[in-house]
Formats: sequence, C-alpha cells, structure tokens
Amino acid sequence: MRRLALLLAALIMDAPSMAQPIVIAHRGASGSRPEHTIAAYKLAIEQGADFIEPDLVMTKDDVLVIRHENEISDTTDVADHPAFADRRTTKAIDGKLVTGWFVEDFTLAELKTLRARERLPQLRPRNTIWRDEPIATFEEALALLKMAGRPVGIYPETKHPSYFASIGKPMERALVDALARAGLTEASDPVFIQSFEVSNLKVLRGLTRLRLVQLIEGSGAPYDQGEAGTGLTYAGMITPEGLKAIAGYADAIGPYKLLIEPRDASGKTLSPTSLIADAHSARLLVHPWTFRSENFFLSAGDRIGTRPGGHGDAAAEFRRFFDYGVDGVFSDFPAEALAARTGG
Ligand code: G3P
Ligand code: CA
Repeated sequence: MRRLALLLAALIMDAPSMAQPIVIAHRGASGSRPEHTIAAYKLAIEQGADFIEPDLVMTKDDVLVIRHENEISDTTDVADHPAFADRRTTKAIDGKLVTGWFVEDFTLAELKTLRARERLPQLRPRNTIWRDEPIATFEEALALLKMAGRPVGIYPETKHPSYFASIGKPMERALVDALARAGLTEASDPVFIQSFEVSNLKVLRGLTRLRLVQLIEGSGAPYDQGEAGTGLTYAGMITPEGLKAIAGYADAIGPYKLLIEPRDASGKTLSPTSLIADAHSARLLVHPWTFRSENFFLSAGDRIGTRPGGHGDAAAEFRRFFDYGVDGVFSDFPAEALAARTGG
C-alpha cells in the first residue's frame, strides 16, 4: 500500500519517481570527481541521479557552502596558501579537538580562492586530475537543478548544526530560506533535509513542511543527544520505540547500511535485520548510506580481486538492498546504482 501511495504522490507532484528506490548522488558523483564540487554534481545529474547531496557549513559572512566538514584541509588546497597560514588553529568541534583551517574563519570571497582536492587519492587516483574546482555555495547547487532539464531533487545535510548555533551561526533559517528562494517549500517538493543531530531537525520541523531525515550512525549518539544532551543513542533510535519517536519530527531515516545488512568480523554479509520493516511500520522511509564500488568498502563476497581501489560487484550489493525494500540509496557512483535499479 505504501508503494502505491508513493507512486500516486510521485505522479501527482511531477517529482523524481518515488515508486522505485531513489538514487541519491552522495556528495555528487564523488566516486568520479572530487566530492561536493559543481563538477561532481553536474556529472551526477548527467548520469540520471534522482537527487544530489550537499553537506552544508557556514562561512564567516554567513553563506551556506558545501563541505563535508568545517575543517577543510583534507579536501582543499588551503594549506598551500601562505596568505592563510595564520588561520590554522585548534578548536573543539562536537566535543573533539580538531586542528586545521575552518570555514567559519573565511569569507566566501576568501574561500573562492581555494581549490577542491580529492579526499581519497590512494583509492581514487583518477580524480586527482581535477584540480581547478572551487568550493561551491548551496545557492550554486540549487541553480544546477534548474538547468537539469528534468526533475532533480536536492538532499542537503546540516553539518555540525549545534556547533554553528553556538558560534552565532544557526543554519536552519538560512537553509529553509535558500530552498524557498528556489521555490522549494512543500512536502511534495523533491527535497529531503538530513542531520545526524536531533535538535536542528526539530527546529526545522517548526519552520518547514519539507521532508526531514534522521541520520543514524552505526554506534554512539548524536552530539546534541549524547555528550551535549540526554536523548536517544543511535542504538536507541533503531528500536520500535525510537523509530516512533523519530516519526514525531521526521519523515525518513538515513541509517548506516550495516544496520540493515551486518557483516561478521571477516567482512562477510550476515542476514538482514528488521530495521526496514520496523521503520516502515513507523511510517518512515529508509535511505541507507554509503554505497561505494571499491573493494575497500565492499563485503567480502562482493570483492573482485585484491586491489583496495579496484571495483567489486557493487551491483550485487545494490540488488540485495533493493530486494530488502529500501526506499533509496546514497551512492558515490550513482550511475551504478541506477543501472542496478533497472536490472543491469
Ligand atoms: O548523509 C548521508 C551520508 O552522507 C552520511 O554520511 O558522513 O557522508 O555525510 P556523510
Ligand atoms: Ca552527508
């Protein structure tokens, strides 16, 4: 019944089809281009991804830009810029000391002088030839949707929202306003807003009708619920009671994929858990992460050869998860997810 209802909703709203699992281009087509660059998003759109996924942080002049962390030395050339050498510092971020260069200490104009770098050069050496991609703003990613020539959705994630609120840069209103300027305001629009934290999702629930996603790690607790709060751990979230609590403020969960298909110590897959059925019983969609095609990330049975960066049988993994009944997948290789979805 749920699939039928989703099919009807998709037909009515002219959005990416929800009748089949959605393919979310994780950080863009980040297996093939440096993550979170316009090049990565453009390739994902060309390949046919249903959604592109930007992770969001905020600049000194309060602009939402796209990076996986607020510390940017792993994914930009900031360390090669003598003009910014004195910005290197150490901060407590979500309860951990981090040393490097931080987005919130740079204006957008300063950030635009940097260039993105491949995060995983050992596994993805071909991506290192892309050396001229600037840091992208959220507005630039939204503009890409309008140029796609077909419905493409956006799946933004707030990164370190409690931390940014603590330094006077709350992200929620800026995010909702940017989406509204792009005409995206309704639950039927092709948008999911995601977070590992809880408080910001609850704030967002009061600000927008757009769909919200509670991300769930394999262990630990959300920063604002564990070390900084008293709420649910991630293990607590995947109980029927925890899922019911999530359904009070969110529309979907984004679990670590091994919470659905665990592995033993040797990397072999074990029988799937009841998480998908339990979440569906709570009327929550299920979008697990992250599907990556390199042997390094695959289960023992899906690996081909022994090179960590060699590609294994990613299609087999996609097919299993589609059979389990997921409502979407986050993948660094959206083209491979799409091929598996159509039976390839
Ligand atoms: O947002 C889903 C997935 O992207 C969560 O992991 O660390 O890649 O943002 P991360
Ligand atoms: Ca993310």
